[in-house]
Amino acid sequence: MGGRLAGRSALVTGAGSGIGRSVAQRFLAEGARVVLAAGVLASARAGAGRRAAGSDALAVEMDIADEAAVEAGFAAAAAAGYDLDVVVANAGVQLFGRDARVADLDLAVWQRTIDVNLTGTFLTLKHAVRAMRARGGSVIVTGSPTGLNGEGRDFTAYSSSKAGIHGMARAVAAAYAAEGIRVNTVVPGYTETPLVTAISEDTEDRAAIVSRIPLGRPGRPQDVEGIMVYLASDEAGFATGAIFRVDGGMTTL
Ligand SMILES: NC(=O)c1ccc[n+]([C@@H]2O[C@H](COP(=O)([O-])OP(=O)(O)OC[C@H]3O[C@@H](n4cnc5c(N)ncnc54)[C@H](O)[C@@H]3O)[C@@H](O)[C@H]2O)c1
Repeated sequence: MGGRLAGRSALVTGAGSGIGRSVAQRFLAEGARVVLAAGVLASARAGAGRRAAGSDALAVEMDIADEAAVEAGFAAAAAAGYDLDVVVANAGVQLFGRDARVADLDLAVWQRTIDVNLTGTFLTLKHAVRAMRARGGSVIVTGSPTGLNGEGRDFTAYSSSKAGIHGMARAVAAAYAAEGIRVNTVVPGYTETPLVTAISEDTEDRAAIVSRIPLGRPGRPQDVEGIMVYLASDEAGFATGAIFRVDGGMTTL
């Protein structure tokens, strides 16, 4: 089968919905074999869609905040013959209504956000690098404008976790470049997925955030697919440690 990712094997976390699902489906369409990882098996299977029974998609349950589960997920991929060339560390949470300005932020909300977003990404990268070390590969992490220069004011925990992810990607890129492992960060802007229903279902909040997007519309999960395919492919062979923004210009303001 042809396609820009023909012959590649990829693992995508958070593949049951939103950006992860869209990217996993696109990787399959580009000829890759894809491990769809999700916190709940039914969600991973839903992400795989009709392909779940086929040989090019494997659904695995993998809570990224739990190292034993992450290890088991990568082991299941290897056991099924997926020699990973690409890992997309994409799963994450944003605890709308609970994440807050620092003086109002509960420790438990901070901790859960850090456990999933920052520790979960660390565990995904740790086991991704172990899986890829012999052959090299491409690791892609999903960052956020809140970790750069905007949209973070009311999200202390989330923006801290995402800034941490950006730093982690840079450090891991530098550490493993000599072994042929590239690590890059994709920063989607406001993208309408289940993560942000607190905004997308509130007419006023939605209009306010769209007014801060120079291209004048919300992002869709499909908007992030192209950059992910590029970073997963050899066309990006000289790109590592970089941040790629696909945010409609949001972080220019
Ligand atoms: N939607 C946006 O506006 C936006 C903007 C910038 C960055 N992001 C980032 O994009 C990524 C994907 O989010 P999305 O917008 O597609 O939302 P989403 O909620 O559809 O996807 C996130 C996925 O992560 C999964 N997940 C949560 N905790 C997990 C855990 N412990 N283990 C395994 N999986 C877990 C969820 O089940 C979900 O499928 C996230 O990292 C998010 O922070 C989203």
